[in-house]
Amino acid sequence: MRLLFLGDIVGSAGREAVIRALPALRAELKLDYVVANGENCSGGKGLIPRHADALFAAGVDVITGGNHTFQHRELYPYLESTPGITRPLNYPPGAPGRGIAECGDLVVINLIGRAFMPAHYDDPFRAVDAALAGMSANRFIVVDFHAEATSEKQAMGWHLDGRVTFVVGTHTHVPTADCRLLRHGTAYCTDAGMCGARDSVIGDDIQAVLSKFLTQMPTRLAPAEGPAVINGVLVEADDTTRRALQIERVDREVS
Ligand SMILES: [Fe+2]
Ligand SMILES: [Fe+2]
Repeated sequence: MRLLFLGDIVGSAGREAVIRALPALRAELKLDYVVANGENCSGGKGLIPRHADALFAAGVDVITGGNHTFQHRELYPYLESTPGITRPLNYPPGAPGRGIAECGDLVVINLIGRAFMPAHYDDPFRAVDAALAGMSANRFIVVDFHAEATSEKQAMGWHLDGRVTFVVGTHTHVPTADCRLLRHGTAYCTDAGMCGARDSVIGDDIQAVLSKFLTQMPTRLAPAEGPAVINGVLVEADDTTRRALQIERVDREVS
């Protein structure tokens, strides 16, 4: 099984790059599944159903979320009605949507971290334990841990080592160089990075972000435009044991 996980897709630059590049990437990398974090797809914050539909049409199998998933209210019924989309599992009860998506023999679990994050979510460690307790072991399980702190992400990797196929971090939009197999066969990467404008500050317009830092005034941020990067992580896993065999970065520039 070969799976590509794409980091947070940011704004139209990221969206259009993924939509344009994915059909060829699927063939070139012989992909069975594509999972992408979509929390910044629409205007840089959140996701609207039309953009989710476009990603699915381009070859994304499962769209995951994060702290910006609930930005646009029109997504709420879509989260309930669309099996291929997740929001973090450990939101408190009552949040719309689901934290787990199933697609063939793939299960995607979406979690959100608590260290340095703006809200107090439920415990992601206990949430994933409870989810795995009720789950058949005979499937590929991929966990998108949407979190700020590298330590919390690494801890989650070890917590899940040997119990899932792949643990990947999202949210920082900066790709990390630590792709590896953990001791018991789980592939791990602290952050997938982003799909968005190359010349940007984590996907946003450089001048707007600089103005915010320099003046400390409230500033409306917007996604940057121009040539885009696609940051992703490719994992190959054994069809019988469901353990990871190989993990590598896939980072491309799309003009
Ligand atoms: Fe993000
Ligand atoms: Fe985020």
